[in-house]
Amino acid sequence: MNGKPLFSKKQYLQKVINTFCPRIILRLSPKKSWANSHWKGQTAGDIHGYDKYCGEHPATKIILPEISRLVPKDASILDLGCNCGNYLRRLKEQGFTRISGTDICGNAIEYGKKELGLSDVEMIVGSFDEVLPRLVFEGRKFQLVYTVGATVELVHPSFDVIRYVCELSDEYIVFIISLWGHAYPRFWEYEFNRNGFCLVKCITSSDGNTDRIRDPVQVDSLMVFRRVRPE
Ligand SMILES: C[S@@+](CC[C@H](N)C(=O)[O-])C[C@H]1O[C@@H](n2cnc3c(N)ncnc32)[C@H](O)[C@@H]1O
Repeated sequence: MNGKPLFSKKQYLQKVINTFCPRIILRLSPKKSWANSHWKGQTAGDIHGYDKYCGEHPATKIILPEISRLVPKDASILDLGCNCGNYLRRLKEQGFTRISGTDICGNAIEYGKKELGLSDVEMIVGSFDEVLPRLVFEGRKFQLVYTVGATVELVHPSFDVIRYVCELSDEYIVFIISLWGHAYPRFWEYEFNRNGFCLVKCITSSDGNTDRIRDPVQVDSLMVFRRVRPE
């Protein structure tokens, strides 16, 4: 059997840089704010406007049962990169009462509040590097923090997004993201481990089906992390 490597050395090198390069060096990158300025101004009709994120998405069938399985209806929950709040709306319909979201795109949040019945839901406009440190400073904690990508994969590694996500979560973190794709792939599990969270579930759609494997860069994975508490 002549197995071809699934990932190139360049892809591994990217992960090494994004996970291990000192942030003081990464902060010198001229690319660090590009994604923010792109997402901030998106509106209906644009390539990534909110009209693209309010329909049925296959991830809905995975994220909602996973959240229901892990936490009760009165758990505090934070959606990272909530856009117009498509998943928040479903959680609200299912009876979750303490839901919040954050996103850089003010147009999407305004639409969700006005048109998706989320006027009573906390939805914070701002980039992760502004909002997450502020929430940590205010002492906020959530029983579960989740994201459905691409969201954190778009965050330049000069900002330690995983550290702040871990500081905000009291118990669970649920990510549906591309482990190898998008702008800034990292050694995700290692980054959570170094912040005190352990991977308790991981499903990758290419698992166990090597005959019909898709390009792994295009594949989204579900990862559930749980805070490790000292004995
Ligand atoms: C691909 S969309 C996914 C939206 C939603 N999670 C979903 O699955 O439908 C990525 C979202 O992340 C948001 N986003 C991207 N970079 C961000 C940043 N630095 N801070 C906050 N939100 C960001 C975008 O505005 C956008 O709503």
